[in-house]
Amino acid sequence: MQMQPKVGIESISVHVPRYFVDLKTLAAANDVDPGKYYHGLGVRRMAVVAPDEDPVTMAVEAARALIERNKLDGGRIGLLVVGTESGVDGAKPIAAYVHGLVGLSGECRTFDAKHACYSGTAALRMAADWCAVHGTQHRNKALVIATDIARYDEGSAGEPTQGAGAVAMLVGDEPHVLDLDLRNEAVFSREVMDFWRPNYRSSAMVDGKTSISSYLSALKNTYLTHRAASGFGWDDYEYLLFHVPFPKMAYKAFRVLCGLERNDNADDQFDLRSGPALWANRELGNIYSGSLYLSLAGLLEKGGRKVEGARIGLFSYGSGCCAEFFTGRLGTDSKNWADKIGIGAGLDRRTELTYEQYLAFRKNGNALACDGSYTGDPQGAAFGRLRKVFYCGIRDHRRMYFVNDNVAQVARNSGIETRSRRSSVAV
Ligand code: HMG
Repeated sequence: MQMQPKVGIESISVHVPRYFVDLKTLAAANDVDPGKYYHGLGVRRMAVVAPDEDPVTMAVEAARALIERNKLDGGRIGLLVVGTESGVDGAKPIAAYVHGLVGLSGECRTFDAKHACYSGTAALRMAADWCAVHGTQHRNKALVIATDIARYDEGSAGEPTQGAGAVAMLVGDEPHVLDLDLRNEAVFSREVMDFWRPNYRSSAMVDGKTSISSYLSALKNTYLTHRAASGFGWDDYEYLLFHVPFPKMAYKAFRVLCGLERNDNADDQFDLRSGPALWANRELGNIYSGSLYLSLAGLLEKGGRKVEGARIGLFSYGSGCCAEFFTGRLGTDSKNWADKIGIGAGLDRRTELTYEQYLAFRKNGNALACDGSYTGDPQGAAFGRLRKVFYCGIRDHRRMYFVNDNVAQVARNSGIETRSRRSSVAV
């Protein structure tokens, strides 16, 4: 049998938006028992983007943090794929904005991947295959970013499962974080109207019950396919990670696998094998394409040495639907990710919003999505030390971004080809 080239995630970094709403606050406003959100869904807080943050700025923040914290040579990145379902333009991909705002090499293929929450995995798998082909060439690293804002109608059943955030991953032939098993594919697709967002809407539509049953049947299907093809069984996985629209969904998924494996000790097993990966999801909510990778990052950040070398099973689901079960082995030296992921630090910097402030943010965000909304006065300047890129509205049908000056400096330090920058640029 041909040897599989070593490929996987070399480093990972998470961008946590600056604001959050406690789900108790939302429950009070929606006249719902807070136990339903806290325990019924398993969410504590949901990340909220400020009007000057969008899927582009979140992706750039995650990518810049990845590059800085790991002192990466950006000149080695030959592929940039953004997984997202929060596209800001019908034609221009978020990847094109990110390419410019991070300052990557011109010799870099850039595009977005879309299939609801599966898009992060679509991007990762495509990048891993690309890396396997590019072997030891100089420009053989791929940058994969999953960035999304999960938004439902105010007062709807989906509202407590909102969230926002971005996860950036460097993929290559030195998988210090997650060595992927590329040989065994277990994918499942079926057209279903469980969750969608028409182009004329800023919030998603969802048939909640259908979405849950579609998720669980895709899980059964891909898990059994993977088990038959790979020979990996229940006892081989030290940790099982799932797409997390809300943490209780991971519990439902775990129970389904216990049923398939005739394991009747679900609760204890869940606490050992999946629970440790969910703390960050409880804090940020659903971040769609990045949600599975937020779990992975959470497991690594808190797990430290305890998770070194562990085999993990991962389940990715995107409504619509496409799903995949796959596996990999975590790196054997936690120093490669310790202090580089950034979830705890990001959470420490957050500010809590009242319900009224949350509504105002939603309203202002919608106002900034219209042509003519750019006032020439980027509010981002005030937060310059905490963030690097700010969305400032639209002028002449072009999105405007304010770039903090030290971005260019950071880019130079990490070996990336840079262009001269003005403070405020239309990309
Ligand atoms: P709902 O129908 O209002 O909630 O919305 P419910 O009545 O089913 O209650 C939820 C749980 O809370 C239940 O527990 C209740 O018993 C419990 P369960 O039976 O599920 O174990 N509960 C309480 N617990 C403690 N104290 C109480 C209390 N009251 C009730 N007082 C729903 C739930 C998930 C449907 C809704 O939030 C929704 O529509 N969310 C969005 C859709 C979604 O997240 N679907 C998940 C699968 S699809 C997916 O993951 C893809 C997605 O990420 C999109 C993409 O791919 O891009 C969404």
